[in-house]
Amino acid sequence: MKHDLFRIKDLTKNELLDILDDAQAFASAYQDWQFPQRKLIANLFFEPSTRTHYSFVSAEHQLNCRVENFTAAGSSVEKGESLYDTVKTFERIGYDAVVIRHPQDEYFKELNNIQIPILNAGDGKGNHPTQCLLDLLTIRQEFHQFEGIKMAVIGDIRHSRVAHSIQEAMTMLGGETRFGGPLEWQDGNEAYVSVDELVAWADVVMMLRIQHERHESLMKMSSQEYLERYGMTKVRYHRMQDHAIIMHPAPVNRGVEIADELVESEKSRIFKQMSNGVLVRKAVLKRAFGYSFETEEER
Ligand code: CP
Repeated sequence: MKHDLFRIKDLTKNELLDILDDAQAFASAYQDWQFPQRKLIANLFFEPSTRTHYSFVSAEHQLNCRVENFTAAGSSVEKGESLYDTVKTFERIGYDAVVIRHPQDEYFKELNNIQIPILNAGDGKGNHPTQCLLDLLTIRQEFHQFEGIKMAVIGDIRHSRVAHSIQEAMTMLGGETRFGGPLEWQDGNEAYVSVDELVAWADVVMMLRIQHERHESLMKMSSQEYLERYGMTKVRYHRMQDHAIIMHPAPVNRGVEIADELVESEKSRIFKQMSNGVLVRKAVLKRAFGYSFETEEER
């Protein structure tokens, strides 16, 4: 049986926690686990990526998959072939699963007739489920629970595919999420809290990247002004609670969302998030084919 991963909100709480448990198991007892039957995986990235793309590649190699990386340039996409026909082609020529990042929001709604598992590596401004899962894994490693955890998400909320997924997940798991940042990037009716209040309140402070590539016009503020008004400065760092941590999905605009010298500070978990990305991607690949750690058979 195949298990796609499109959106966090498609998962039940138990399914979400099972993925986190599997990801954690890949860090310890099951670090050498591999697919009993080798899988052929295609990574289809229609948007730039470093972390997501290459942590999927790392996860796939660690699970003993054969891996192909598709780029639209040089493919029949340049002759106008649709996403559906491209993915259907991978299905029909022997691939066992596809990982897709695409600029169109919810591109996967066009792919209902695909028979192989599809793992969403980011759709437009919509969803980034594996990013959300690796963020949750990082929070759970730190606090050992989600109940009562206070999370601040600060920055370019409207263009982010991270902000709403983490809010949905934290709410499902008993945590609380509050947003802050420039009002022109506010999304919907979400109440905003000042950045100074948020950093003192939160257990987890998630700074978001400014998504310049999704903006209709150039940002009016300088980088220095943005940092001072909305970013993680040294002053705000010292307002954080002793136990609180900083996260950022990356890539980081150093000196804009966060002061350069704080990217690898004691409270920062930014590079820890990246390592957790491999564990989570191993867990969702394992789930895609319905394997459990104990059996040799797909379920
Ligand atoms: N966080 C994230 O999705 O990074 P990449 O765009 O490099 O994959």
